[in-house]
Amino acid sequence: MNRFTLPRDIYFGNGSMEVLKTLKGSRASVVIGGSSMKRFGFLDTVTAYLEEAGMEIQLIDGVEPDPSVETVLKGAKMMQSFNPDWIVSIGGGSAIDAAKAMWVFYEHPEAKFEDIAKPFNIPALRNKARFVAIPSTSGTATEVTAFSVITDYKVGIKYPLADFEITPDIAILDAEIAYKMPPQLTAYTGLDALTHATEAMTACLASDFSDPLALKAIKMVKENLIASYNGDEKARDAMHIAQCLAGMAFSNALLGICHSMAHKTGAIFGIPHGCANAIYLPYVIQWNRKNAEAKYAEIARYIGLEGDSDKVLCDAYIQFIRDLSQQLGIPSNLRDYGIDEAEFRSKLSTICENAEKDACTGSNPRVTTAVDFENIFNCIYEGKEIDF
Ligand SMILES: NC(=O)c1ccc[n+]([C@@H]2O[C@H](COP(=O)([O-])OP(=O)(O)OC[C@H]3O[C@@H](n4cnc5c(N)ncnc54)[C@H](O)[C@@H]3O)[C@@H](O)[C@H]2O)c1
Ligand SMILES: [Fe+2]
Repeated sequence: MNRFTLPRDIYFGNGSMEVLKTLKGSRASVVIGGSSMKRFGFLDTVTAYLEEAGMEIQLIDGVEPDPSVETVLKGAKMMQSFNPDWIVSIGGGSAIDAAKAMWVFYEHPEAKFEDIAKPFNIPALRNKARFVAIPSTSGTATEVTAFSVITDYKVGIKYPLADFEITPDIAILDAEIAYKMPPQLTAYTGLDALTHATEAMTACLASDFSDPLALKAIKMVKENLIASYNGDEKARDAMHIAQCLAGMAFSNALLGICHSMAHKTGAIFGIPHGCANAIYLPYVIQWNRKNAEAKYAEIARYIGLEGDSDKVLCDAYIQFIRDLSQQLGIPSNLRDYGIDEAEFRSKLSTICENAEKDACTGSNPRVTTAVDFENIFNCIYEGKEIDF
């Protein structure tokens, strides 16, 4: 038996935050990140609509990029004393992911982080609150996914929580918020979306439901990411939708080892999530092509790349990603990113052991052990092609 789950409602288009005024309830906790949503006035828009709906509001702010377990537990405690019937999060993947995890501990104060970090082990939600996600970046698609990535800084590991219980009830896609993204954030998050769609195409639960979403997302990224990076608003509108389509695909099809590696190196080396994915993706395709070349060729064909065999088309897709990353200022290996070689070598075996255990490794199209990760990472550090 397979399953395909999405939020019940997705509202999209400029001005779509207005739907907040129709929610039924008496208290809403609003969760945001740093200052950008306040500074640009979007927090005021959200609170004004919620007040129009007759709700009392609690603000939980200051969620840091790559949120910590501590931030989650602190926010959950605040919710426990306020008793919201809605949790509304506006911000990047970090703020919304933290709010999702707060939701779990708000409804289940007795839960242990170690237990909920096990895939599909989150207890039933929606006994106290429902969840609205309003993304301000165009990449993670956390507004439609069953995931939340929380970092345990004591061990320097990102844990992807995974369960359809934390798929939001309502997603609101208003690209006007994403117009404010600076170019580098636009590039990183857009390449995260490209990685989601690419990994969803080859992941173990890829299906006839997820493939069309992933393919369309990749085509939209090809047609819009550079213009979006350069600030074109129509392209930003398209990227906001494209990343969501990619999210609908990967939330159900799952991901692969590109994400395992990004999760396990992001915190340790301080590489932004989308940037890590963009550096690793061409190497991951080279590694996976033994088992998934036809799927990469299908992507290449769909987005209009040329080639008369799966091999040539797969090569063309790798080259397309490299060219795109280069135009967006992303280095092609970890040495050029600026990771110190001695530091890289000293941490490599721990990173690889953790990557093998990452929740995304099991859904990769090719079995990848800690030893394999070490070989792959060595190529990624040096910028060597993977031909094994
Ligand atoms: N839940 C999922 O399905 C999923 C999927 C992929 C990644 N993630 C996680 O999401 C996090 C990354 O999220 P992200 O890439 O959205 O970045 P982010 O939320 O970490 O935000 C990065 C920075 O950009 C700022 N920012 C956000 N929106 C802005 C805007 N519109 N204008 C100006 N500044 C803005 C934030 O304040 C922050 O300083 C990582 O922790 C990653 O692991 C989650
Ligand atoms: Fe991602």
